[in-house]
Amino acid sequence: MPFSTLILAAGAGTRMKSTRAKVVHELLGKPMIRWVIDAAQTAGTERILTVVGHRREQVLPLVGDTTIVVQEERLGTGHAIMVARAELEPYAQAGNSLVVLSGDTPMLRADTICELVRKQQESQAAVCLMAHETDTPSGYGRVVLGGLGQVLKVVEDSDATDEEKLLRLCNSGAYCFDLPKLLENLERLGNANAQGEFYLTEVFGLLAAAKESVVACIVDAAEAEGVNDRLQLARVSAMMQERINTAWMLQGVTMLEPSSVWIGPNVKLSSDVEILPNVILSGYTEIEHGCLIGPSSRIVDSRVGRDCVVDETMIVDSCLEDGVRCGPRAYIRPGTILKLGSKVGTNVEIKNSTIGVGSKVPHLSYLGDASLGSDVNIGAGTVTCNFDGTTKYPTQIGDRAFIGSDTMLVAPVKVGADTTVGAGSTITRDVPDGALSLERAEQKVVKDWNYKKRRKRPESTAAPADKQGAAINPEDKRERQ
Ligand code: UD1
Ligand code: CA
Repeated sequence: MPFSTLILAAGAGTRMKSTRAKVVHELLGKPMIRWVIDAAQTAGTERILTVVGHRREQVLPLVGDTTIVVQEERLGTGHAIMVARAELEPYAQAGNSLVVLSGDTPMLRADTICELVRKQQESQAAVCLMAHETDTPSGYGRVVLGGLGQVLKVVEDSDATDEEKLLRLCNSGAYCFDLPKLLENLERLGNANAQGEFYLTEVFGLLAAAKESVVACIVDAAEAEGVNDRLQLARVSAMMQERINTAWMLQGVTMLEPSSVWIGPNVKLSSDVEILPNVILSGYTEIEHGCLIGPSSRIVDSRVGRDCVVDETMIVDSCLEDGVRCGPRAYIRPGTILKLGSKVGTNVEIKNSTIGVGSKVPHLSYLGDASLGSDVNIGAGTVTCNFDGTTKYPTQIGDRAFIGSDTMLVAPVKVGADTTVGAGSTITRDVPDGALSLERAEQKVVKDWNYKKRRKRPESTAAPADKQGAAINPEDKRERQ
């Protein structure tokens, strides 16, 4: 059942009140127009024409794999087809089907498009239009049926009589036409209506009046929801979220609060992944069996191996091998590899670094452009000073190195295997294997310094007796009495 597809995406989308074209607004990280194109491709369309116009410089980069038709002046959905006529004519041999979709109805499934095409082709109808029933039909064109259930016409909301406005059967905005019959009737469309536009939807009445068969394919209202304003964008996003989450839960993923979990369409999850509230998984992220993700975590374009724990953490463009623990509040930036069983703990930022097998960075550290061997321990507050204002430099740390707390590693620098770096050191030179390195000013101890200072102070400014507590030794107290 070959068919071609035309996608309408030239409209101004005024109700969005946006400087961005409506169809580039995203649902779960994917532009609205891509949901429509991908559904048409999955349904098996032979070719796709996209009609662009308003803010097309934003739309064009997203529709490069389709044939572009530019509608300079937006005079309505019927006018959009008139503009595409020259591109459509070569395919207008008898029996060829053209599916017309709107770039603003992203919930439509590939299977439903197939169903629409099948119905038009099997019944050899001039057109099969997709329709849905709703209790809130305002804004949609209403489908007017005849006594035999045949479609008589579609009347737009702004042109509908009070009686027609009560109709609950709406035009979903997706159609499968017998292409020659569509083209024959295009020039007959007028613009004498409330909006002064050439409505594509006028063609149904024209075809029906010419005794052509116009049939409807009734679909679930959820698939037909169009996005015209931000309220509908939020509603449709939530519907898409529910569709995706339901599919994952049926595949063996646990979600404590599915409504707070947002999973992009290209994410892959394995069974027995558990997702806690407030989690966003996007891009080409993959999460393997047995991981615990969340709460409050965001993972973008990253791979997470088996049995990892990701707690209140953001991970971008990185790879976690099996059994890794992250967070709470870690930030794993692009180019990072956390190897088998490694740990990145609280308030730690890692960028473009490899943390070796079993190595630990448990607290308050920044590692950038660093490469750590296995079983390394990084003390709290360690920082790689990897940037001198112009260039980034690498830091290398060998197997089993023990880096004391508050160490500054001034890159480029190499710390060998089996080394110890004393706490508080600023390491500017390489440390050979097996060595201890310590960089620390000698500690001074001035005996009784504080007691002497207090004794000199006038009585009135001395700390109140109850606050002096342990700072005053018993001997000192005795002296004062
Ligand atoms: C349209 C239908 C309505 C249907 C509803 C379903 C018409 C006249 N009305 O109304 O019956 O119930 O969809 O969602 O078709 N576009 C162009 N060029 C234009 C005008 C619009 O390409 O000159 C594109 C828009 O970008 C959009 C699509 O056509 O993707 C539909 O236009 P929109 O203005 O959203 O139509 P609705 O009022 O929603
Ligand atoms: Ca619309």
